[in-house]
Amino acid sequence: MNAPSSPLLVVHGGAWEIPPQDHPAHIAGCRQAAEAGWAILARGGPALEAVEAAVRQMEDDPTFDAGRGSFLNTAGEVELDAIIMDGSTLNLGAVAAVQHIQHPVSLARLVMTESAHAFLAGRGAEAFARAHGVPECPPDALLVGRELKRWHDLQAGAGPQPADYFHPADTVGAVALDRAGNLAAATSTGGTPNKLPGRVGDSPLVGSGAYADNRSAAVSATGVGEALMKVVISKTACDLVERGATPQEAADAVIATLAERTGGYGGVIVVDPLGRYGIAHNTSYIAHAVVSAGGHVEVGIRRR
Ligand code: GLY
Repeated sequence: MNAPSSPLLVVHGGAWEIPPQDHPAHIAGCRQAAEAGWAILARGGPALEAVEAAVRQMEDDPTFDAGRGSFLNTAGEVELDAIIMDGSTLNLGAVAAVQHIQHPVSLARLVMTESAHAFLAGRGAEAFARAHGVPECPPDALLVGRELKRWHDLQAGAGPQPADYFHPADTVGAVALDRAGNLAAATSTGGTPNKLPGRVGDSPLVGSGAYADNRSAAVSATGVGEALMKVVISKTACDLVERGATPQEAADAVIATLAERTGGYGGVIVVDPLGRYGIAHNTSYIAHAVVSAGGHVEVGIRRR
């Protein structure tokens, strides 16, 4: 059995050019998510439950590109991806391209605990949700006016220019260390604006969108999925920690690799079993919160 640890929780609410007028909502959203996760860690609960609770909170918050508030695909639909991973067992659950699901992170956890599989996509994942009593939400429960307008602008050719198309946005994630010394990670996203139906980014891919292993670290990533998956960014960060890097050194190194090898943009949060953490990004900002011993919350928009 592991020696008791001092719990730690880190959440992110996306890494991108967050407009200054949106900073207060991102800060409030990260704080609420951190508090939701911390409530579980503070009473001695498991890291897995804490990261799920933190991400569920952000899936409900229309500020972020996850659950309610997600970008629409070219067909005008919300399609969601999520992953959750338990560092004590390496068990994981993931879902991709699911519709009408309010909390894809919880569906991912159900895949982990209630199926013989690790990853379900599309209609199969939705059928699995129905079979396990997950209520189907109406499409407008996930749709917000901001995204409907963005979609109409994009269809009219008045939206972002091609160079903006793959800009990272508000994918959310959480990593935690619990009192028992266990690590967990979770990530959830609505993907990229005007993506093709069926497009899946890095977020639900194990080792890319998230990874957790008690022997190394727990990591959640955000950014341009097509780039992040090329460098398997979350597992790469875990491997660096296992070889002796601090979480901050590992976070810096994988973001440098992302930039050098792919030209892509993103951010990562990393927590290790010693209760150390790292945050790195090569975007203008990353929205984040850290809760450490005593429930002290540090929340903000970190500038590069
Ligand atoms: N990182 C989120 C995505 O590309 O879908």
